[in-house]
Amino acid sequence: MQFEVFTLLPEVFPPYLQSSILKRAAQRGLIDVRIHNIRDYTHDKHHMTDDTPYGGGGGMVMKPEPVFEAIESVLGIAPRPSPPAHDSNIPIILLTPQGRVFDQRIAEELSAYERIALLCGRYEGVDERIREHLVTDEISIGDYVLTGGELPALMIIDAISRLLPGVLGDPNGAEDDSHSMGLLEYPHYTKPSEFRGWKVPDILLSGDHKKIEKWRREQALSRTHHKRPDMLEEADLDEKDKKFIESLKGDSHQ
Ligand SMILES: C[S@@+](CC[C@H](N)C(=O)[O-])C[C@H]1O[C@@H](n2cnc3c(N)ncnc32)[C@H](O)[C@@H]1O
Repeated sequence: MQFEVFTLLPEVFPPYLQSSILKRAAQRGLIDVRIHNIRDYTHDKHHMTDDTPYGGGGGMVMKPEPVFEAIESVLGIAPRPSPPAHDSNIPIILLTPQGRVFDQRIAEELSAYERIALLCGRYEGVDERIREHLVTDEISIGDYVLTGGELPALMIIDAISRLLPGVLGDPNGAEDDSHSMGLLEYPHYTKPSEFRGWKVPDILLSGDHKKIEKWRREQALSRTHHKRPDMLEEADLDEKDKKFIESLKGDSHQ
């Protein structure tokens, strides 16, 4: 999958992308993250990418010309008078605290594309004409405001990449993750089996895979019930699950 990232701070990406799982995914040709410096698409002497807001007020606003030119030339799309069709096969995503809030469902949705574009804002954000006439989607990573869209872009690249076939060592690695199944994931333990007197639950050492699977399902249900009961409304639950959750009601254990 190819990610086209448009930013004024290209230097912040390599340290993260060239580490661990994402580095290996790129080496194996599973992802290709291309970072484009919006400043390279300016034509004035000072390479200006921002200017003061019309109407006054503090802060600077990212100018439309270099952003349009960068995205249109990299994606090979002709300048248009109207917004691109929303079924465009390359989503052009503006990172903004005003967008739809990113979650695992959106990561899954975007992982189906072969190529996506991510536009990182800075300062007060981008000129409104970019939002109206160039981008096809707007994504927020949560209800708080950061100084730029670079960390949101990295988070989205990370969340999507680990869903792509072959990126994780374990082919089923992402399946049980929190949020994938509409539940929080069960707890994990590793060696030693006893640490400072705290023991790993016997069931995990039993070798009985059926019982382990049942225990993990119940742990996931219990955690979700205690920590994120809102998720249970959407989760795919069978009768056994529902009965188990019923048995937890009134239980304050975390
Ligand atoms: C300081 S913010 C601008 C916020 C803008 N003035 C507003 O109130 O909506 C600068 C840039 O950081 C990025 N950003 C900040 N918070 C974000 C969030 N929660 N999700 C996605 N991007 C965010 C956006 O690209 C934004 O253009």
